Amino acid sequence: MTMLAHEMKRQWMALVLFLVFSKWQHCATGDPLVPCYFIFGDSLADNGNNNMLQTLAKVDYAPYGVDFPNGPSGRFCNGLTVVDVIAEILGFHSYIPPFAAANEADILHGVNYASGAAGIRDETGQELGERISMNVQLQNHHKTVQNLIGMLGNDSALRNLNKCLYSVGMGNNDYLNNYFLPQYFPTSHEYTLEKYTQLLIEQYSQQLRSLYELGARKLVVFGLGKIGCVPGAIDTYGTNGSACVELLNNASQLFNTSSYQSLMNSMMTCRMQRLYI
Ligand SMILES: *[C@@H]1O[C@H](CO)[C@@H](O)[C@H](O)[C@H]1NC(C)=O
Ligand SMILES: *[C@@H]1O[C@H](CO)[C@@H](O)[C@H](O)[C@H]1NC(C)=O
Ligand SMILES: *[C@@H]1O[C@H](CO)[C@@H](O)[C@H](O)[C@H]1NC(C)=O
Ligand SMILES: *[C@@H]1O[C@H](CO)[C@@H](O)[C@H](O)[C@H]1NC(C)=O
Repeated sequence: MTMLAHEMKRQWMALVLFLVFSKWQHCATGDPLVPCYFIFGDSLADNGNNNMLQTLAKVDYAPYGVDFPNGPSGRFCNGLTVVDVIAEILGFHSYIPPFAAANEADILHGVNYASGAAGIRDETGQELGERISMNVQLQNHHKTVQNLIGMLGNDSALRNLNKCLYSVGMGNNDYLNNYFLPQYFPTSHEYTLEKYTQLLIEQYSQQLRSLYELGARKLVVFGLGKIGCVPGAIDTYGTNGSACVELLNNASQLFNTSSYQSLMNSMMTCRMQRLYI
């Protein structure tokens, strides 16, 4: 996963630069650039939601967190995740808490729903155990929205939700922990890679639309990483002399290029402010 995180960091550089630039323009106030930040995703963004689940995709022990101030936290890396860095750059004084541990005061500033092994499809990652799929992450967000309405009232809650930043990074596991594991999942027998990718993108678009219906207007969607360079994938498939597994990198490239246009289109119909990385 670290390798995947490394690849993603390169892709996200553009976003980070954009945010740094915006920060320079606002640094006089000391307030975060947005009042709240909600995070949806997989192991690249999880910061503790899997700690309480029965799953092999769990990292609440050393050496995970060796470079994190409080040691292991449930982040699938040594130190900070990309969403932690984004929260820092946005000017938040603390990292966005995991949904599993967030209290009432926290939800005003945002929640992190991400879960290692999770995917766009509900069954993705089930060979590893429990995980919180994108659909369940959205249900959890629905609970948060209802709590906010209870705290602030309908109109004020909606105005707040409109101002928040939302980032979503899903799809890596729908290949790594679904399509390319034919011993556990039937999808590669049922669909060609192209058809499967198209179905994923349709489902993803619907999920992003329900986020819009829950008040999201400023959305960042991360593309997939080079999933063929993940050590586990190299181990399973072999690279036949290349640096990475070409078949898997081709799949993430296909998702990336085909999702770009259709997600852009559906966000345009929603008149959503958007950033696609
Ligand atoms: C809350 O406000 C929204 C938008 O103004 C409206 O569509 C919805 O019906 C309201 N809900 C309640 C429970 O008042
Ligand atoms: C591995 O590489 C060799 C030489 O480039 C090629 O002939 C062979 O078909 C490749 N095998 C696979 C499974 O891609
Ligand atoms: C990956 O894509 C490249 C470029 O389209 C193609 O030449 C190559 O055969 C593909 N490799 C695999 C394993 O699908
Ligand atoms: C993902 O797709 C977008 C749009 O086609 C492109 O600009 C970007 O370079 C792609 N990234 C990768 C890693 O393929």
